[in-house]
Amino acid sequence: MTLSTTTGFRLLPGRLSPQAQSELLAQVLARVEQAPLVHQVTPGGKPMSVAMTSLGSLGWTTDAAGYRYEPRHPVTGQAWPDIPQVLLDLWAELADPDVPPDACLINFYNAEAKMGLHQDRDEADLKFPVLSVSLGDTAVFRIGGVKRSDPTRSIKLASGDVCLLAGEARLFHHGVDRILAGSSRLLPSGGRINLTLRRAAPATA
Ligand code: SIN
Ligand code: FE2
Repeated sequence: MTLSTTTGFRLLPGRLSPQAQSELLAQVLARVEQAPLVHQVTPGGKPMSVAMTSLGSLGWTTDAAGYRYEPRHPVTGQAWPDIPQVLLDLWAELADPDVPPDACLINFYNAEAKMGLHQDRDEADLKFPVLSVSLGDTAVFRIGGVKRSDPTRSIKLASGDVCLLAGEARLFHHGVDRILAGSSRLLPSGGRINLTLRRAAPATA
């Protein structure tokens, strides 16, 4: 895997045990009841096929005004629920031991959902990595390079896999081509949940 440590992309297959996946799923679903999943609209006016919500002090939002982080849920107007401790611990271990994440984006993919190739660049300080946790059905994930035209390759992200976009890979283009429906039984009605932990606001001294 040439993409590995030299670029800051790390894939940790099966980092979460089946038991840890079930426990985390329960914690995430309890929070989604407070902060429901929403098909947000891109600045171009298209509803996203991925349904989203967030945890933490900031949540990723998109609408006609653009992509940004907001302290409140766009529909309920409430603050986002807290980030589960197990995710904070994972971030401290793999991403940054000193500065905690302040945003955890929850993406829900049904069998038809996908996400186009993009960079994560709405965060204030791009030196902090993005840490991703996959739960449920396997995703066919695509990752390229810093330039949109760079060659890409396809990687499967299965339930319990953790991956890190750090260093040069922090700005690598990535997306989800498709979901392999029926590949996991973790979510009772199928589908995939991806959690991405980020540091959205500048780190305070
Ligand atoms: C994302 O880029 O926000 C999500 C990636 C994924 O679902 O694996
Ligand atoms: Fe992303």
